[in-house]
Amino acid sequence: PRSIFFSRHGESQYNVDGKIGGDSPLSARGLEYANALPELVRKHIGDAPLTVWTSTLQRTIQTAHYLPYPKLTWKSLDELDAGVCDGMTYEEIEQAYPDDFANRDEDKFNYRYRGGESYRDVVVRLEPVIMELERQENILIFGHQAILRCLYAYFHDLPQADLPYIKIPLHTVIKLTPKAYGCDEERYTLPI
Ligand code: F6P
Repeated sequence: PRSIFFSRHGESQYNVDGKIGGDSPLSARGLEYANALPELVRKHIGDAPLTVWTSTLQRTIQTAHYLPYPKLTWKSLDELDAGVCDGMTYEEIEQAYPDDFANRDEDKFNYRYRGGESYRDVVVRLEPVIMELERQENILIFGHQAILRCLYAYFHDLPQADLPYIKIPLHTVIKLTPKAYGCDEERYTLPI
């Protein structure tokens, strides 16, 4: 049976700084993850064909760099657009936009950043990606926290209200194998 593999990009400089969004490069740890991936992926895919999908942001492209498989970049896989809050820390957002910060906590799925997106918007923009995923064989996606929450919730049929809180850790490959009902799941974490 075919499988869908997901991973967040390796740790980025913005992850280290606690900033959201942006297009920062990988940190030293993130690069270590990128370096370790070929062996991990090979161990779990063997000789089966695999295609790697990334977003257009450099942290996912750098993460996929050393993998010897065909690659495709999707703009629709770019991280949730935080609009005016892009590049800020959560503390800075709370200071600058206290009402927005509280509203997001009230209804995280529907909250839309000023000049940006909500989780609901992201679910809509991922529809073509999901349609294509349903038609494909083995795919490995390097995505972002909010994006992978949406894809994970789709494949496990999780409720919208829970979706923005799903834990998608760094440096972990999640393997989903669709069955008649639902999906089997395995996780491989690299100690980096
Ligand atoms: O901090 C990493 C990140 O991917 C940000 O770029 C993004 O805004 C955020 O996580 C999404 O998580 P949350 O919706 O919990 O803020």
